[in-house]
Amino acid sequence: MNRLERAREYEQTHKEEISEKDRPVYHVSPATGWMNDPNGFSFYQGKIHLFYQYYPYATKWGTMHWGHYVSDDFIRWAFMPAALAPDEEYESGCYSGSAIETEDGKHLIMYTAHLEKEAEAAPHMIRETQCIALGDGRDYVKYKGNPVLTSADLPEGSSKADFRDPKIWRENGKYYAVIASMAADQSGQLLLYSSDDGLSWQYEKVLEACRNEYGEMWECPDFFRLDGKAVVIVSPMHMREKKPEFHSGHNVIAIVGSCSERTFDFVRENIQNVDYGFDFYAAQTMEMPDGRRVMTAWMQSWAASNCQPLHAKWFCMMTIPRELSVRNGRIIQNPVRELKKYRKNKVVYKGYNLVGTEELDGICGRSADIEVTVRTEASECTEFKMLLAADDNICTEILCNLESEMITVDRSCSGLRHDIVRRRQFKFNKADDIVKFRVLLDRFSVELFVNDGEQAFSMCLYDTPQSAERIFFASDKPVKLDVEKYDICI
Ligand code: FRU
Repeated sequence: MNRLERAREYEQTHKEEISEKDRPVYHVSPATGWMNDPNGFSFYQGKIHLFYQYYPYATKWGTMHWGHYVSDDFIRWAFMPAALAPDEEYESGCYSGSAIETEDGKHLIMYTAHLEKEAEAAPHMIRETQCIALGDGRDYVKYKGNPVLTSADLPEGSSKADFRDPKIWRENGKYYAVIASMAADQSGQLLLYSSDDGLSWQYEKVLEACRNEYGEMWECPDFFRLDGKAVVIVSPMHMREKKPEFHSGHNVIAIVGSCSERTFDFVRENIQNVDYGFDFYAAQTMEMPDGRRVMTAWMQSWAASNCQPLHAKWFCMMTIPRELSVRNGRIIQNPVRELKKYRKNKVVYKGYNLVGTEELDGICGRSADIEVTVRTEASECTEFKMLLAADDNICTEILCNLESEMITVDRSCSGLRHDIVRRRQFKFNKADDIVKFRVLLDRFSVELFVNDGEQAFSMCLYDTPQSAERIFFASDKPVKLDVEKYDICI
């Protein structure tokens, strides 16, 4: 039995041991064991496909496989058998990559073959090359000509060990791939390759480079054109904090600019954080047939990746898929519109006069979609708070300072059992005397969208008991609120 057959057999039996009530309601979690980066996020033959970095055998990172789900609407996902496992001599792990439908109706995956060897009397050897697998939406066969890109295709001085995470797309009748690499200056660079048939690839140029400005190695690049701009999204490792935009450690940044067609001269205009939360990494986008650009990411941080709940049979989730647009040179993100189909049990308050700390009848829950508009005109309110996933002792706090235009998210009292980052701040714009929030709660996570998606904040809440489902609103001076709350039921 090879590794793929073994994984398929294992997940088939062990996924049944996890009851639906112990999983998120509408966020993707691994069939069994561990999940990291979203991979191969694509539309193929009428279905949305989402693969992921997968180690079925434990709730921690291990030999990398590709797990697989399909969906009609980004919200309900159907399990598919594992798609890739490291079964060839050129790989000891199938690392991140992407997928696309070919002209002749095949699902083409490009992924990184990561190879590690203990060489006798020599240093530990690591090599990363790019490989192709072709499939029908269920079964994938690795291409005989693998690897299709090796260290021979790198610019001089680039690391042979850090060359990974290809993102492919089609433009002007050609295939392109942007791939993360470590440049001679020991910082990230994004390399552009092209191909006529998706199998044989040529090096084109350095599309963008870190030059030791935004972290060190750059991982999981993406490139797309949207609303008249060209956008690079990438996950830099080991960044220094740059307040208030970037936190220390691994971030995901968007570089919005322009880029000529065919010659790919990318010019930076604006650089921003994609998500200000504790748990967001390795974002990947796809394009829907209706033209929507949709992004999902691993809702986890590497820094807290050993903080699995005790006795868990699965660990790590994806964020809600988000529709992207570009406004004023910035990325705007909102949950996919399909989520609204699953809204039930509407509760509405219009112009509610909030005084001090209050709990509103019917506003509670741990699988919910809540819209809150704070109307600050004619109010002296300077601080507005939401306390989520709360009981008598526990809560996760979202504090909005209307003077400094800063939002602070604090999970110190959320019942944590691990020593992880508890507090993070980000800037928002208070325009037109209103601040709008959309909060998605889903058992083990909270995602927050501010002012129709100008800022997003993602976090996991594995340690907060499910019984903590109360929600409180608070303000220092009376203020008017509109609140609309739905349960999300699948
Ligand atoms: C990012 C990453 C990728 C790599 C994968 C391995 O989280 O480190 O660069 O392909 O995870 O699982």
